[in-house]
Amino acid sequence: MKVLITGASGQLGNELQRTAPAYADATPLTRQQLDITAKDALQRAISAYNPDVVINTAAYVKVDAAEDEPDAAFRINATAVRDLAEICGRSGIKLVHVSTDYIFDGTKSPLPYLEADRPNPLCTYGMSKLAGELYAANLCPSHYIVRTSGLYASRGSSRKGGNFVLSIINKAKNREPIRVVDDIITSPTFAHDCAGAIWKILGSEMPFGIYHAANSGHCSWHEFAQHIVNAAGLHAEVARIKHTDYPAKARRPLWSVLGATNNLDLRHWKKAVEEYIITEGAGK
Ligand SMILES: NC(=O)c1ccc[n+]([C@@H]2O[C@H](COP(=O)([O-])OP(=O)(O)OC[C@H]3O[C@@H](n4cnc5c(N)ncnc54)[C@H](OP(=O)(O)O)[C@@H]3O)[C@@H](O)[C@H]2O)c1
Repeated sequence: MKVLITGASGQLGNELQRTAPAYADATPLTRQQLDITAKDALQRAISAYNPDVVINTAAYVKVDAAEDEPDAAFRINATAVRDLAEICGRSGIKLVHVSTDYIFDGTKSPLPYLEADRPNPLCTYGMSKLAGELYAANLCPSHYIVRTSGLYASRGSSRKGGNFVLSIINKAKNREPIRVVDDIITSPTFAHDCAGAIWKILGSEMPFGIYHAANSGHCSWHEFAQHIVNAAGLHAEVARIKHTDYPAKARRPLWSVLGATNNLDLRHWKKAVEEYIITEGAGK
């Protein structure tokens, strides 16, 4: 199976490469190699590589900045996905498009969001991602929309260097105060596990449609941070704050727990964090 991966230098793009199974002949393309907003380049790349599957992890992910740059967010998260879905649909190529829990508004608390629940994004980033989903679903019959949440990845996976887990560990080691919101609830997800779920969907030829691929269970960002500190064998108290203490530009859902009706069976978020800390050598 020839697989083209866009956004290959990102967290998920990188983990997809690290976890690629034997059945996949994966070609990763970074933004420098393929800017998905350039339709001609997209068409050329797809003609040249002739893939069976495109996995689109490329995205505009700056949630707060998107409020000031809606055009950029929509260009990458929606218009480029429209072009990609149109090309894939026309050529009979399967499209895996990665999306987000931020397409939901949080009002389903305390029940997890399932694949068929009605989206209602609260911010520009969420709206642009939902528009991308709709284009993928409507223009490419062979589509998988894979929603995930709260991604963190191996140290080498982010060109931005670092993620929430490593930043909490660094603060604990440096004895800096750690304050984290306890009123936003999510399902933190190890990008390695999300990548594994995508390979499982493709490898088992699961039915086309929407999939939720988040680690199971849920927690507040505060509980997530405290578990990171404990799992790393460090001693630090994480102080609780409210999301209103640090107003952000973008409105986020206060509850965005992704449940799943599929059988992807991602492990519990606590187990994933523990393994992450061991494999990264990030503990005490
Ligand atoms: N991070 C999260 O917590 C989270 C949560 C839920 C869903 N998601 C979704 O998961 C997917 C992967 O996220 P991630 O955490 O891996 O993000 P990431 O680490 O920021 O990676 C995104 C990648 O997309 C690339 N990119 C941006 N614009 C592009 C363009 N025009 N053409 C080609 N590549 C472009 C970026 O390249 P540059 O670095 O060079 O700009 C980067 O390598 C995204 O669809 C995101 O919406 C993420």
